[in-house]
Amino acid sequence: MLKKSLLLLWSASMLFSQSALSQQKKVKGAATEPVRLIRGPYLQVASSTGILIRWRTDVSARSKVQYGTVKGKLDQSVEDLKLITEHKVKLSGLKPSTKYYYAIGGLKDTLQGDENNYFVTLPEPGKPGHYRIAALGDCGDNSINQRHVKAELLKHLGNNDLTAWILLGDNAYQDGTDSEFQSKFFNIYKDDLLKKYPLYPAPGNHDYHDTDLTSKYAQETHETAYYQNFSMPTEGEAGGVPSHTQAFYSFDIGNIHFLSLDSYGKEDKAYRLYDTIGPQVQWIKKDLAANKNKGWVIAFWHHPPYTMGSHNSDEEEELVKIRENFIGIIERAGVDVVLNGHSHGYERSRLMQGHYGMENTFDPKKHNLSSSSGKNDGSKNSAPYTKTVKNSKGTVYVLSGSAGKLGGKQLSYPHDAMYFSDADHGGSCVLDVQDNRLELKWICADGEIRDQFTMVKEQGKNGSK
Ligand SMILES: [Fe+2]
Repeated sequence: MLKKSLLLLWSASMLFSQSALSQQKKVKGAATEPVRLIRGPYLQVASSTGILIRWRTDVSARSKVQYGTVKGKLDQSVEDLKLITEHKVKLSGLKPSTKYYYAIGGLKDTLQGDENNYFVTLPEPGKPGHYRIAALGDCGDNSINQRHVKAELLKHLGNNDLTAWILLGDNAYQDGTDSEFQSKFFNIYKDDLLKKYPLYPAPGNHDYHDTDLTSKYAQETHETAYYQNFSMPTEGEAGGVPSHTQAFYSFDIGNIHFLSLDSYGKEDKAYRLYDTIGPQVQWIKKDLAANKNKGWVIAFWHHPPYTMGSHNSDEEEELVKIRENFIGIIERAGVDVVLNGHSHGYERSRLMQGHYGMENTFDPKKHNLSSSSGKNDGSKNSAPYTKTVKNSKGTVYVLSGSAGKLGGKQLSYPHDAMYFSDADHGGSCVLDVQDNRLELKWICADGEIRDQFTMVKEQGKNGSK
């Protein structure tokens, strides 16, 4: 009896699941099945007159972006009739420093488009103003820390928008695969940062682990999800000397010139960032020479010259070589701030120059151009770092690699060249640039600002006014 009723129960459940399956099939086969948005929208190759809006759909579909400067009145549009899942729609002929609302979708349907779908075009190149740029290093690990860092960054911004955000590499752990980018990067930032703020990435070593082959192969070919997921201004769309490669490029945000560099990939299958005869460094020299008139120059890449956090810049050859061979070029060109990741903490120098040896050769009297903390907060010896027309030397090195991953200290932690080091709290940086004044704040995962510095340039220097 018991057996019989169990059998009946089993047959009934089979019937039910079969009918559910056929219903599912019916729905799947229906002509009206909606196209689903599974990634984005996200904003790339932003300039003062254009932007590239990207998104991904689950099935092939056509693309349409409707846009306009008045909320609810999207009176302009761009269409792409190709049936594709990776949608890339370029808007051009836009006005500088102007807020545009937008909606994405197909020719007839809208996938997304409400009051939170907006962007502000970049200011005219060279124009001083008030700009905010966030920097996130080693972010994509789907951790609680990643979520808290993002939440506190947004809280810090309040009603202020970011002008843009940059990535300092290792953007999706463990191997930078497309599915890791989906779950640990795009899904996490989609509702706030990605849809509103132009993004300029840099690659880290983990962004090169994507293929079944060794990362050595990817280092040479750049065939990784990172390069397929992001579009970069490779042709000087936003200022700078065209690099003609996604690996490294430059762009202007008003009077700030940015260089995004690749410290892990190889050019011509041979040269890395520390090989100064290679194509990347040759391009960097040209780009820096052509942008000497900018108010500020900021360079960012993944592998730091100074760290005693989760990595050791005395023992790891690639870090030693970057310090010995490369950063002198950056310093001679007067780059104001260098931003790196790789170690999973925060490490920040004073205004410094000329330290290319091991940690024990660091001499504060010789290498620090200022003994100030630069904090500008009323505490003792905290005056802003100042650059004058006569003396524009010095760079502040900032390692900010705890926007997701967190922790790790070498035996000799902290590095002697650093004014401030913290590997116990996650965080991200916000650069606040107002004309000839630059402030950097480290916003931690608990909302505290544990470090900051200010740099000021004498008016008239480098076209800042
Ligand atoms: Fe790394």
